[in-house]
Amino acid sequence: ASAQTVAAPRDGRSARILLGVCGGIAAYKAAELVRRFRERGHEVRCALTPSAARFVSPLTLEVLSGNPVYSETYLEAGRHGEEEHIVAAAWADLLCIAPATAHMLSSLALGLAPNFLSTLALAFRGAVVVAPAMHSVMWEKAPLQTNVDELRRHGVVVIGPDSGPLASGEFGLGRMSDPLSIVTACERSLAPRSLAGRTVLITAGPTQEPIDPVRYLGNRSSGKMGFALAAEAARRGARTLLVAGPVALPTPSGVERHDVRTALEMEKVVHDLAGDSDLIVMAAAVADFRPASYETHKIKRHQGTPEIELVANPDILASLAELAPNALRVGFAAESALTADEAERKMRAKNVHLLIANDISRGDIGFGSDQNEVIVFRPEAPPEPISRRPKAEIAGVLFDRFETSLRSRLSEARSTRG
Ligand code: C5P
Repeated sequence: ASAQTVAAPRDGRSARILLGVCGGIAAYKAAELVRRFRERGHEVRCALTPSAARFVSPLTLEVLSGNPVYSETYLEAGRHGEEEHIVAAAWADLLCIAPATAHMLSSLALGLAPNFLSTLALAFRGAVVVAPAMHSVMWEKAPLQTNVDELRRHGVVVIGPDSGPLASGEFGLGRMSDPLSIVTACERSLAPRSLAGRTVLITAGPTQEPIDPVRYLGNRSSGKMGFALAAEAARRGARTLLVAGPVALPTPSGVERHDVRTALEMEKVVHDLAGDSDLIVMAAAVADFRPASYETHKIKRHQGTPEIELVANPDILASLAELAPNALRVGFAAESALTADEAERKMRAKNVHLLIANDISRGDIGFGSDQNEVIVFRPEAPPEPISRRPKAEIAGVLFDRFETSLRSRLSEARSTRG
């Protein structure tokens, strides 16, 4: 593989895992993590920060992993070229940092490289899973939380920390997640490239409908759910087209992004791209109405209170049945209490195969939140609630459902042909 490609797991099951260990009391659990990874057939190499080597012996990890350990002594031995961090990064399918200290998390978020492990992380292109462990006061500090949010936004999977007794003798949030949960999170992140060769079109964010040069009608959609879906599609190997309304979110890696502002602009771009798509997910909160006219000059207060006449925007989703008849089409419904009957009606009206409902009346999920809780509606199947979890994880569950539907459509198409 060239330096440009992300190494794929050798056989779809076993992977090359680089376990980064930071200096914290939870470092002793790294030994168990190595064993768990190996039990499940993965190859493991460990990289210790200088302080981690004071909590857990490199020799322990070397013996358990069956590989030399990247530690300061190993690197100082000078047997290796200067590019050892590049070599290690190219070797691995996944980087798991457990335990991840506050210092490491902030370094990762800011792109700092104070030691070998963070330099390696900077050089690494694949999936990253971090398992924070620290005292709860440190974990809850605003600057750290900002940095952890930044990592999540860039697709880093953050597992834990969990609640329980802390090293200080107190009880609180800060314990590293148990090794088995970390292994599971890593295996999830190594999702097979099951959508290779497919094109997925996703819309995200709000639209803005201008009234005059400074004012517009908008809505509170943050775009986070749609961006998480796009990241997931790309991770699964799909050619991923993301049509984004005005949002301040970084483009997930491997995603082709088209920025739009209004519903009409979104309609045009979606129509241009829909024909090539195997799966279309309309996660955008498209404005249903726009001002009938646009004032080219800012409306002045002394002109009196304006009356703004609205006209309906086209329903983009409903128009796709004709433009992309073979694509699996998925709609979102931002509604608090959608009954199965109403969902069924909506699916028929919009001619979609799946409808994902989320409750936007709740502050802890939905609009603007990093968490979501949704219900998946499909014809002739009971509604499936997906409990509250980070949007990146919701995206993973939803793509599992989309793939099931894609597969069954494919086999249906084959059987009708045959
Ligand atoms: O009818 P409602 O707005 O509840 O439908 C929501 C679904 O329809 C979402 O998937 C949204 O992206 C899509 N939609 C659309 N065009 C519109 C309004 C909504 O494609 N004008």
